[in-house]
Amino acid sequence: MTSAAALEVIDTPTPYLVTDLDAIARQHAAFEAAMPGVRTCYAMKCNPSPEILRTLAGRGSGFEIASLAELRMLQAIGVDPAEVLYSNPVKPPTHIAEAFRAGLWRFSFDSPNELAKIAEQAPGAAVYVRLRVDDTNSVFPLSRKFGTDVEDAYDLMLLARRLGLRPYGVTFHVGSQCTDAKAWHNAIRGAGELMTMLLADGVELEMLDLGGGFPARYTSDVPTIEEIGTVVTSAVASLLPYAPSLLVAEPGRHLVAESSVMAATVIGREARGDEHWVYLEVGTYNGLMEVLQTPGGWDFPMWASRPGAALLPFTVTGPTCDSTDTVAYNVPLPAGLEVGDVVYIGSTGAYTLAYASHFNGFPPPIPLFVGSGSLRAPR
Ligand SMILES: Cc1ncc(COP(=O)(O)O)c(C=O)c1O
Repeated sequence: MTSAAALEVIDTPTPYLVTDLDAIARQHAAFEAAMPGVRTCYAMKCNPSPEILRTLAGRGSGFEIASLAELRMLQAIGVDPAEVLYSNPVKPPTHIAEAFRAGLWRFSFDSPNELAKIAEQAPGAAVYVRLRVDDTNSVFPLSRKFGTDVEDAYDLMLLARRLGLRPYGVTFHVGSQCTDAKAWHNAIRGAGELMTMLLADGVELEMLDLGGGFPARYTSDVPTIEEIGTVVTSAVASLLPYAPSLLVAEPGRHLVAESSVMAATVIGREARGDEHWVYLEVGTYNGLMEVLQTPGGWDFPMWASRPGAALLPFTVTGPTCDSTDTVAYNVPLPAGLEVGDVVYIGSTGAYTLAYASHFNGFPPPIPLFVGSGSLRAPR
């Protein structure tokens, strides 16, 4: 998280979202150290800022995309499409064709319909099948929308071969912000079953893609990346003697969430009944959308520019005429909080600006970047 001292020297008007690029580089290094032999492909959907893409590309990271537009952003900073995975299991046909023309050659899928699309738009491409896995210990489950079971995946990979595609790999996603390291163990075991079944038909899978879901810290502790890495390493070892030649992971949130802080000025303070309300110039529609996506809300860490040991529980809301822009309840903030003070919201680097709108005419925070001691506006 960007330090309080670093935040003090920023004199840009709020609202802004400041990201520490050095912290992202350190997080990437720690991820690679915890997962020896695993190639990182950053899931850029969670924060596609060019500064972050350049930082990770400069460290040799690959990328995972959801659409052609994301590929174009990578090409604009010089990333080779051959190093990019297209892991959205259901893609517009034109995006498949254009990505293939650009040199991207690996596509995920989970159905016969998608295979037919890929065979038509990207003949001979390499395909990797998305398994449905247990994602009950994640905050954002994905396995209702995507994935297939091991038996159907087996049939699909043989169909891929008949369609002239290259049966290349297997992937899964344990759900975003997954807090149970065992989820990767179970998912890798399922992938291993599929690999063994296919081997009997002469299909040897080259890639095992561990997907995303690696958690970030908000206000509660989560398993460390070292703990997850230990589970992953031992699950992969249990696949021996048949190990895929390429191991990949697609972390998004874990690499970037904790490296950013959002700063928003207090525009109003009210007492309604016995509830203390603080109105900020940002709310759920300006980057804090994950609050609305989770039944229990979302525990962003928050603190204020105003010093003061006496705290009160505040309801923190946004600037619009909607009540659904409310961010959190019972947040301990200084009792003397006033209009003009700044509230800082930590761990806001993932799935924030990527979702933000100008609802009611209130703009999203301006992105700023610090790194190696310098403060930069976006290029
Ligand atoms: C295919 C795929 N890979 C990776 C990710 C990144 O997930 P996370 O940010 O939880 O690591 C996502 C997120 O939706 C995804 O859909």
